[in-house]
Amino acid sequence: MADVYTNPEKHVILHNNVKMPILGLGTSHDGGYSHEAVVYALKNCGYRHIDTAKRYGCEKYIAQAIKASGVSSEDVFLTTKCWPTDYGTNTTREAFNGSCQRLGVNTLDLYLLHWPDVPSGVRDKNSLLLDTWRTLELLLDEERVRSIGVSNFLEPHLEVILNECSVVPHVNQCEFHPYNNPKKLRSYCKERNIQFEGYSPLAKGMLLNEPQVLEMGKSYERTPAQVLIRWGIQKKIPTIPKSTKGQRVLENSQVFDFELRTEDMDTLNNMTREIQIMDPSTIQAKIDNPLPDGYKLKLVQIPVEP
Ligand SMILES: NC(=O)c1ccc[n+]([C@@H]2O[C@H](COP(=O)([O-])OP(=O)(O)OC[C@H]3O[C@@H](n4cnc5c(N)ncnc54)[C@H](OP(=O)(O)O)[C@@H]3O)[C@@H](O)[C@H]2O)c1
Repeated sequence: MADVYTNPEKHVILHNNVKMPILGLGTSHDGGYSHEAVVYALKNCGYRHIDTAKRYGCEKYIAQAIKASGVSSEDVFLTTKCWPTDYGTNTTREAFNGSCQRLGVNTLDLYLLHWPDVPSGVRDKNSLLLDTWRTLELLLDEERVRSIGVSNFLEPHLEVILNECSVVPHVNQCEFHPYNNPKKLRSYCKERNIQFEGYSPLAKGMLLNEPQVLEMGKSYERTPAQVLIRWGIQKKIPTIPKSTKGQRVLENSQVFDFELRTEDMDTLNNMTREIQIMDPSTIQAKIDNPLPDGYKLKLVQIPVEP
């Protein structure tokens, strides 16, 4: 078993005792997908957690990369997400089965509702969200998935689920970096045993030239990316930086052998600029627009069939 599951610094434990590696590799349709980078992450950098989504269109390539890496898929914590046009009962089940098939697994480690929004034509939004959540609870009960959660849910969205659910979401994955640090939402999740997980830890690169981050990088002899990723990890928040470049994938993983001083943690904690990378107001149009999954996926290097 990889040391991410035995070293307590390298994982968090969800409220059903599932261990989730604290550092994951992001993948996406945005900014490209690189087969070689994913293989390298698993084979050479010790990553054992990959984040993806049906929407990104790269699930089938991840299956190929896991196979090519020689790492057992059982050792890799795999997260994927259900896109709102698949919300419901049978539709969610079909989406889940499709994701498993493309990822080459029978069970998933974490399945998330990608956004709290639903297609515009839906009259009773809350009841669709609850039916979908119930489907996830059944998949959990049937042991098709080890943990279930949501993504981009704010307090009112979580209330809808919490008021009716049998299983409290294990995870809420949201944008999280020093420019966007939703402290109230994080406390809300913590009080309810929902593990807050952060995405876009580098603010898609926007934070890499922030003078205070550059300064800290110099003082620790680390890169700005390492400082930002370390900040999340030191706060015990799972984080999923994405890169299509092997060297950066490696750099982003070398964050367990240094510690940020309290004053630097405080500086990053209080840097909030209300800069949001993912604008939630653009999501409804994306849900209602019939573009296919992975519509903007660019393969940075063509995956090689293992
Ligand atoms: N749940 C959701 O709605 C949601 C939304 C957004 C993202 N996510 C997840 O979060 C993951 C990461 O988010 P993200 O891709 O938006 O943002 P990110 O990880 O903050 O930043 C990725 C960007 O930073 C660059 N980069 C990565 N490492 C670097 C380094 N060491 N030095 C310099 N540049 C570096 C990458 O370029 P190169 O590829 O050229 O290295 C890419 O342009 C996604 O892949 C996805 O899994 C989830």
